[in-house]
Amino acid sequence: MDLARARQEIRALAHYQGAYAVVEYLHDHFPHYSWVGIYWVDGQDLILGPWKGPQATEHTRIPVGKGVCGAAAQSGRTEIVGDVSQDPRYLACFPDTRSEIVVPIIADGRVVGEIDIDGTEFNAFSETDRGFLEDVARLLATLAPGIL
Ligand code: SME
Repeated sequence: MDLARARQEIRALAHYQGAYAVVEYLHDHFPHYSWVGIYWVDGQDLILGPWKGPQATEHTRIPVGKGVCGAAAQSGRTEIVGDVSQDPRYLACFPDTRSEIVVPIIADGRVVGEIDIDGTEFNAFSETDRGFLEDVARLLATLAPGIL
């Protein structure tokens, strides 16, 4: 996958078609992104926004500070978990998830949401994914509910 080209296409999708189109692009173009979702911050909670993957998650509302998602929202830093069974913070969603990356979406210095991606392989996510998804998160920052 040509990441420079993916960034360009995602910039256009974010601008013209919104957050779901970005989620769909990530899911459909990166085979190791098995479930892709965006959570938006609403007060002290993360609320599930657009997502694409084989199954719905029961975790549609997660308190900031809870789970891997809540940790990233609290710290404002990307979380990469290579083996979810070894992370006591992990909130299980899907039986075949082995690893996870959570990338905060930051606007005006505040966490307004995050990209959450599950992988079915151990250590599915690298520093390349981190850099790329942090760029994608910047493109999503203006799309958070209540930002404009
Ligand atoms: N695993 C996440 C919860 C969200 S589901 O993966 C979609 C967590 O530990 O916060």
